Amino acid sequence: MVYGTMSQDSYLPPAKKFKPGTPQSSYIRKGAMQLGPRKHPVPIEQQRRNLPIYQARAQIIGQLRQLDSAIVIGETGSGKTTQIPQYLYEASIGRQGVIAITQPRRVAAISLASRVSEERKAELGKLVGYTVRFEDVTSEETKVKFLTDGMLLREAIGDPLLRRYSVIILDEAHERTVHTDVLFGVVKMAQKKRKELGKLPLKVIIMSATMDVDLFSEYFNGAPVLYLEGRQHPIQIFYTKQSQSDYLQAALVTVFQIHQEAPSSHDILVFLTGQEEIEAMTKTCRDIAKHLPDGCSQMTVMPLYASLPHSQQFRVFQNAPKDHRKVILSTNIAETSITITGIKYVVDTGMVKAKKYNPDSGLEVLAVQKISKAQAWQRTGRAGREDSGICYRLYTEDEFEKFEKMTIPEIQRCNLASVMLQLLVLRVPNVFTFDFMSKPSPDSIRAAVDQLDLLGAIERREDQVILTPLGRKMASFPLEPRFSKTILLSPKFHCTEEILTIVALLSVDSVLHNPPAKRDEVQAARKKFISSEGDHITLLNVYRAFKSLGKNKEWCRENFINGRNMMLVSEVRSQLRDICIKMSMPIESSRTDTRNIRQCLAHGLFMNAAELQPDGTYTTVETHQPVAIHPSSVLFHCKPACVIYNELLHTSKCYMRDLCVVDADWLFEAAPEYFRRKLKSSKN
Ligand code: CDP
Ligand code: MG
Repeated sequence: MVYGTMSQDSYLPPAKKFKPGTPQSSYIRKGAMQLGPRKHPVPIEQQRRNLPIYQARAQIIGQLRQLDSAIVIGETGSGKTTQIPQYLYEASIGRQGVIAITQPRRVAAISLASRVSEERKAELGKLVGYTVRFEDVTSEETKVKFLTDGMLLREAIGDPLLRRYSVIILDEAHERTVHTDVLFGVVKMAQKKRKELGKLPLKVIIMSATMDVDLFSEYFNGAPVLYLEGRQHPIQIFYTKQSQSDYLQAALVTVFQIHQEAPSSHDILVFLTGQEEIEAMTKTCRDIAKHLPDGCSQMTVMPLYASLPHSQQFRVFQNAPKDHRKVILSTNIAETSITITGIKYVVDTGMVKAKKYNPDSGLEVLAVQKISKAQAWQRTGRAGREDSGICYRLYTEDEFEKFEKMTIPEIQRCNLASVMLQLLVLRVPNVFTFDFMSKPSPDSIRAAVDQLDLLGAIERREDQVILTPLGRKMASFPLEPRFSKTILLSPKFHCTEEILTIVALLSVDSVLHNPPAKRDEVQAARKKFISSEGDHITLLNVYRAFKSLGKNKEWCRENFINGRNMMLVSEVRSQLRDICIKMSMPIESSRTDTRNIRQCLAHGLFMNAAELQPDGTYTTVETHQPVAIHPSSVLFHCKPACVIYNELLHTSKCYMRDLCVVDADWLFEAAPEYFRRKLKSSKN
């Protein structure tokens, strides 16, 4: 089959039109990686000893004992994250305090803590524990603590010297999330200050599978780099001959080509970009697999993305039934955070969904974009964990050459309002000159400070930026500044109970479960909750029903509500409520009055407003950017004059997600100066 001429038509229905082909001939073969022995399933102690890192145990302990800062590089699965904290603990390094290991992803923090406590035969939360946003499973006894980078940052607000910790391991450093990047600076500062004050020294270890070591080493005062040998088997890489206009279709074709030809024990890992796409593709693959000709082996298709319920994420680690091929459709979560066994084939679409920010337009959008070369290598590596493997890159070699070398740090492509607020609370003397490893552009810093100014979190005196009492209160919530502000405004509108619910609902992954196969049933079930005032109020209705029925699981299933996320919402809500109580905020309910709630949302989120234009389209008030209502919104078929939205999503168009109908007057009341300025600029 020639790749360039692939079309929907050559595939569906596959039973009739599926033709055997030689996908390899339509690819160009490229290079191989080095060879090593094969791994077998064994008891847990033996598994620990079988890890590549075990060979280097004594050496690692010896070196890390000496060093203040170190950089550790090793292939995913070599044992860095699970073993190094244990080696330190076993060698009594850092026993005076707690050993912290940060993770960019909550799933990773939780699953790693479970794994390590299992390896130590200790109950989770005792010797080994974890802390993620809204969940703390640690105790006085905890000596090895996995936590998200965001959580460690919050702890730094309470104690900038991070005195509780003797060792801080910043893991998955290559991901360069905003939080990790801020942490680099915070930890570096804490280490230096502790040294100056003669306090317990802080050991800093930076860990990753791939990264720009020079940049890191230089930033951490010339920290030495320890390279761990991984086990990597040869991987054949194939590029497409021609550029693919539809990477989803290309992925689908490739999966079924492999399925036709390879033995069923060879599992496939496909890298896609996001939940909706993965769910749709899962369904398509299952449908096609049902109609394959006799003699073709069975296929078990599993989605994998961060917001998937835990139990379902766990399925990917289990073997498929006998004679079934496992096909995992994953986001970049499987790139480095998670190791999946059995993978022989990797299909790399070359795409990822990530944040992009333009300080000129003030827009932060989630957009599907090309991966970096480092990411492409990482994905390829997933095929050679246990034996030799094959990676299909659904792009040409020329396209690959044009990928960025490394992923651009998130700090250089996101809205920095939260970061700036955090730096101010951390009492960083000058936020404009903070020691970032990769500096964000001065424009984005300025835009963030402007935003905090509009929210009343800061004041400017001469050249200085000063945190206001309101700003300090805002930083007490583990939320984006605009949401903290909305909560803090809510007593004025007598609707704190409702605002807490809404903010909690927006803080966790979607509570609405939308299986594409059951669209009609979902719509029928959802009808009773829908509010013509928008998604916020609709979600509020869902939560109210959930609560009045005693948080019933059966009810969740019948109504296509994700029960686990719903429980999380109720936990998040109660934690946010506790923060309000600590601040002595009056907590009232507006009961049936939703006008107050919408008014409060308008006052907190006025910077995310959009207006209906005479031609029936919408533009944002902030930058006059054309936007559309996302099809998932309950307002999709409506045309309210004025809305606020929760976020923008850039796919084929720029979409607003989670909308609430508001009055233009309310927005004006919220920030008269701001709107006067915007009005002027729209007339120019
Ligand atoms: O950090 P790195 O990628 O080097 O490896 P790791 O996360 O320490 O994992 C080492 C090995 O432990 C993996 O290859 C898995 O075999 C096992 N592991 C596991 O079974 N379950 C986990 N949640 C984490 C690791
Ligand atoms: Mg790791």
